Amino acid sequence: MSTHIGASPGDVAPFVLLPGDPLRAKWIAQTFLDDVRCYSEVRGMLGFTGTWRGAPVSVQGSGMGQPSMAIYVTELFAEYDVQRVVRVGSAGALSERLRVRDIVIASGACTDSSMNRIRFDGLDYAPVASWPLLSAAAAAAAGRDDVHVGLLFSADSFYAAKPELMMRMVEYGALAVEMEASALYTLAAGHGREALAICTISDHVVTGESTSAEERERTFGDMVEIALAAGLS
Ligand code: HPA
Repeated sequence: MSTHIGASPGDVAPFVLLPGDPLRAKWIAQTFLDDVRCYSEVRGMLGFTGTWRGAPVSVQGSGMGQPSMAIYVTELFAEYDVQRVVRVGSAGALSERLRVRDIVIASGACTDSSMNRIRFDGLDYAPVASWPLLSAAAAAAAGRDDVHVGLLFSADSFYAAKPELMMRMVEYGALAVEMEASALYTLAAGHGREALAICTISDHVVTGESTSAEERERTFGDMVEIALAAGLS
């Protein structure tokens, strides 16, 4: 096993769905996959492998925020030879173009985190999605006006000290705020692997609108189907 994932090499599929919440990982595995087995319970950060339409798929919880996500994704790439990761998460809408329950497929991710800057010694790297995954996800969602392709803002703080800086990003195309995509894209690029982040809009930071647990589950299911179609394309 690796330090934080209690699996043997071969227990994890080459394609992994990555929700932040480990109980979402369990829900995805139980709802969408066949022949499911749990490969890790370390720190309650559950991981499962099963099949979707006959193809192997794993689902691994990542925790909240880029430092937690980076632990799991680094181990998935370095120790389990994972080739493709699709984050399936939630985000808060920043742009007035978005409504709660919409879905954002992230072509790229801005951030206030220092994780990339430390890696590049102060230079600003541009973290972008893997094109094969991005184009396959966009194709799977073709014709839906509730699905948007564009920038996420990956914040290190859920409770922003300076929300006005986030809103400046909106003037430059950021659609919604979450806490993982930017470092995920950088890690995938550094390991020569593919990554994509897809988020459902759970709340609207500007209007204050939010969704019920039941609504969140339904939209989350739509997003998982887009992610599975993209990851196995
Ligand atoms: N901020 C950061 N992450 C989020 C939010 C938010 O408002 N909503 C859902 N994920």
